[in-house]
Amino acid sequence: MGKPVFIVLLGPPGAGKGTQAQMLSQRLGLAHISTGDLFRKHLREQTKLGRLAQEYMNKGELVPDSVTIAMVQERLQEPDTAHGAIFDGFPRTVAQAEALDDLLRQLGAQVDVAILVDVPEAVLVERLSGRRTCRAHGHIFHVKYNPPKTPGVCDYDGSELYQREDDRPETVKRRIQVYWEQTGPVVEYYREKGLLVKVDGNRPMEEVTRALLQVIPPVGNGAIEEA
Ligand code: AP5
Repeated sequence: MGKPVFIVLLGPPGAGKGTQAQMLSQRLGLAHISTGDLFRKHLREQTKLGRLAQEYMNKGELVPDSVTIAMVQERLQEPDTAHGAIFDGFPRTVAQAEALDDLLRQLGAQVDVAILVDVPEAVLVERLSGRRTCRAHGHIFHVKYNPPKTPGVCDYDGSELYQREDDRPETVKRRIQVYWEQTGPVVEYYREKGLLVKVDGNRPMEEVTRALLQVIPPVGNGAIEEA
């Protein structure tokens, strides 16, 4: 088995990280680790962690680092991470980026590339207001740019599509502000390490996927890569 590959997807809310991570993880056979999805799963299951996270998410604020890092540490123990993973929405603070380096070091691995999906702010708001998310597994749609075959129903598992609570305009504004304040320095963190690559995310989804595949190092698990 080849060395595992760990990819960080960075970008503001609505940049398309989740959409791209879902496609890439399927194509490359890598685990998809979305801290937002993990918090929403806890919330559905009404765990203590889910209720705590909700307080922050509904305000557009970040969930505390200690809680988020512990959750990722646990997720990294799962067998589907053997060939590596795509991190979506993590790390979001420099403390999280440092913790991720430590966690991967313990596994004999490291972040191989950090990709900034770059999208202008005006586009983000339109994307988020039209987003619809699948209740069961978090599949992502858009009423205009990626509509489901049947309105309100997930193409993949038939579950209900809903509008995320934190996609309300006031919360979106705060999330974008928090991104610049707290995640902006993470972009610099990876730039200084020579790991940052910027990809234009303001074009059709398939084009973005092709551009991402070109900057991802070869994955040694036998999965077929098609650019
Ligand atoms: P999270 O769930 O991670 O949300 P986010 O980072 O704000 O990102 P989004 O999911 O909103 O956007 P995305 O970039 O994934 O875009 P998507 O692919 O859906 O986090 C939510 C909250 O959880 C945070 O605010 C925080 O409270 C908490 N949290 C999570 N991680 C945390 C952490 N590490 N630390 C602390 N707190 C944390 O696309 C958006 C829409 O655009 C979709 O409708 C899609 O169909 C459409 N679209 C995508 N690509 C294109 C394209 N190329 N053209 C046209 N439309 C497109």
